[in-house]
Amino acid sequence: MADLVQLWKAPEEPLDCLYLATTEGTNPLEGLVLPGTNPKSIGHAVSELGVRGLEGEVLVTASPSRDFRRIACFGIGKAGDFTVHSLRKLLRRVLEQAGHNREYQIAVALSAMPRDVDAQEARTVALAELALADYRFDRFRSHPDESTKVDVVHVVPLKGEDEKGLRARIDRARRLDTLVRLARDLGNRPGNDLTPESFAGEASAMFAGTPVRATVMGRKELEKEGLRGIVAVGQGSVQEPRMVRLEYRAKKPRASVVLVGKGVTFDAGGISLKVAAEMAEMKHDMAGAAAVVAAMRTVAEDQPPLKVVALVPLVENLPSGGALKPGDILTMVDGTTVEVENTDAEGRLLLADAMAYSARFHPDVLVDLATLTGACKVALGSELAGLFANDDDLAHQLERLGHRTGDRVWRLPLLAEYRDLLRSEWADLKNSAGRWGSLPASAAFLARFVPEKARWAHLDIAGVAYIPRSRNGLPPGATGFGVRLLMALLDELAEKA
Ligand code: BES
Ligand code: MN
Ligand code: ZN
Repeated sequence: MADLVQLWKAPEEPLDCLYLATTEGTNPLEGLVLPGTNPKSIGHAVSELGVRGLEGEVLVTASPSRDFRRIACFGIGKAGDFTVHSLRKLLRRVLEQAGHNREYQIAVALSAMPRDVDAQEARTVALAELALADYRFDRFRSHPDESTKVDVVHVVPLKGEDEKGLRARIDRARRLDTLVRLARDLGNRPGNDLTPESFAGEASAMFAGTPVRATVMGRKELEKEGLRGIVAVGQGSVQEPRMVRLEYRAKKPRASVVLVGKGVTFDAGGISLKVAAEMAEMKHDMAGAAAVVAAMRTVAEDQPPLKVVALVPLVENLPSGGALKPGDILTMVDGTTVEVENTDAEGRLLLADAMAYSARFHPDVLVDLATLTGACKVALGSELAGLFANDDDLAHQLERLGHRTGDRVWRLPLLAEYRDLLRSEWADLKNSAGRWGSLPASAAFLARFVPEKARWAHLDIAGVAYIPRSRNGLPPGATGFGVRLLMALLDELAEKA
């Protein structure tokens, strides 16, 4: 819910509960501006409880103040060990407990800041996590449990925090929340619901009446433009491929930015069929596309002094009598020929076309996001996205912004030598290397299609875009990774370009 989180306002009726995050060895009320009547009595009640702040400690008491019915203290351990993970876990537990107790209006006081993000942005990160803490995907449940939904969370101000600043942070957190939810919902929707057609239709409708111009290219147009990679991957499915183009241009743009997102609405692997186990997860193989569309929404709202174009190729990768086959040779939009060694290495075929096509927008900066390789998931797990870049400044910027937003990335080598792994007997290159080095080889493949002069970064989000079970305070399913990172990048490019 977009307006779940609100700035503290003295309630007409008492709030159901005040949740206090408490740390070891600190006075639980330290650093807080406890609003409302009689804050002293709250301090008294809390000290009566004997709060120690140990991790996992939960203590509840009746509230002596008439602003709250109860006070619940959640211990989070040592302030110095507090991270985004512990923050998420805490907030999810708070929202769950409040829901179970049928508390509809609560206040949350959070004076500890996660130490693994920039101090400057930590408060916004925390507020965004608070807003996201009740996210769940229940679109397909006939009886979603509405009775356990908290309606309003009042944010307790911190000492030294002026109201205007806090208001601005809450606004920003709400925006992050809305867009991360959008990306998560898209990633969680199954392949029969989110098809190339419905994704394209919804994504373009989202920009009606905004300064972002949305165009949807269908199969015929893709053919006509020579985007064979996209058409070929999609040809095994009755769902025809699409490409969404979202264009925004400020009057005097300081730079041209192109965002490309892999949009495979379901990846069965094609003729190089995947094994059955975990195949259902491949409904999220459009998480890159989702993040790019969400980021474009901020462009529509903020209208930065940039030219920003998003290219979102959308296909379903299925085997059939008409499907792309191993051994087939494709001529991509820039004339490069590619031998398809493995139809499951489909993402790079889409991205290569979209990236080469982006040359017409003369990008200064090109960023692509893709759930590209299982190898990246093997290498980095669910903590970090893989980053490849042809430009050190852009790479460092993304590393820094990853640290600030919580969408963390780890740079991997982009080396011309890896191209050897993609040598084909029959075409300019093949789409899949052997087992060893397949991760850097995937980036070496993409590098061939980067327009001249573009500073380019490729984010492999295969490990971070989706988790099968709840972990580290994240709900199961799509994570919305990349939305916050792209938003932060666009902000900086608008400032500094
Ligand atoms: N969509 C997958 C990659 C993936 C795997 C994403 C696990 C998220 C979780 C991609 O299209 C794929 O199948 N890649 C192949 C490439 C290989 C055939 C060169 C892979 O990683 O096995
Ligand atoms: Mn695949
Ligand atoms: Zn895929």
